[in-house]
Amino acid sequence: MPRPEVQAPPEIFYGETEARKYTTSSRIIEIQNRISERALELLALPDDGVPRLLLDIGCGSGLSGETISENGHHWIGLDISEAMLDVALEREVEGDIVLADMGQGLGLRPGCIDGAISISAVQWLCYADKSSHEPRLRLKAFFGTLYRCLARGARAVLQLYAENMDQSEMIMSYAMRSGFAGGMVVDWPHSTKARKAYIVLTCGPPSISGALPKGKGEDGESCSDSDEEGSQTVHISDRNRPRKRLKTSKKGRGKEWVLRNKEKRVRRGKEVPHDSKYTARKRKSYF
Ligand SMILES: C[S@@+](CC[C@H](N)C(=O)[O-])C[C@H]1O[C@@H](n2cnc3c(N)ncnc32)[C@H](O)[C@@H]1O
Repeated sequence: MPRPEVQAPPEIFYGETEARKYTTSSRIIEIQNRISERALELLALPDDGVPRLLLDIGCGSGLSGETISENGHHWIGLDISEAMLDVALEREVEGDIVLADMGQGLGLRPGCIDGAISISAVQWLCYADKSSHEPRLRLKAFFGTLYRCLARGARAVLQLYAENMDQSEMIMSYAMRSGFAGGMVVDWPHSTKARKAYIVLTCGPPSISGALPKGKGEDGESCSDSDEEGSQTVHISDRNRPRKRLKTSKKGRGKEWVLRNKEKRVRRGKEVPHDSKYTARKRKSYF
């Protein structure tokens, strides 16, 4: 069976029939619930009983959002599939849901979100469904706006099913370029069935982010799905926002050069400004 992402655009693939099938499958409910619990664990919200406002990106029919509610937090969910959101409405989920394409940016106020999760959705951004779709631009818009709407120090945990290493690297590199610190946490890396990859990102300086959590499956701990022994796999990437190029002054254009040129202009009968202690002083870069 080909991957859903290569079969049709998400808003078509998750049409009415698939949306209902997805939401009534006990297997899917159980898996999505388990992944969402783990994403919340990786989000590492303060354990102070204060409800936080979280974002569920690609919330679908609300399975992942329900886990957020059960953990006592508020949430805003966004999804591109109307049919999935209709099912969420029918199921009377507690979150506020929005029909939106994450590839066009999130359109939320800066710093208003305390944390974000995304379960089984972000890999869709790697596929171009329309001639106007450019995956790199969509990833840039997504991560740029995600970074902006998160409070400083807040985390985003994105569980995804990348098709290959190239996709994982592309997604990760756009996250880093947007200013995030973080990396990839892989649970049960040696189990085909149970393996789950989470991108764990922190908004703000790396000192606030701390170390990345460990993947499950360490020290021979056995995995309930396959009973296979796993080992922890954690890739850490550093914050890597490209620095703005500083303007450098051209060589030799100091005070002497300016005074010499002023003299020349005076000799030619031209007007020049008076010399002062500020003559040829280097301006700050923001000018
Ligand atoms: C496998 S479902 C997961 C739904 C939900 N997170 C859960 O755990 O049940 C993936 C969801 O991602 C949504 N999605 C895919 N591409 C999207 C995009 N560009 N913007 C918003 N949602 C998207 C799909 O419509 C679908 O509802």
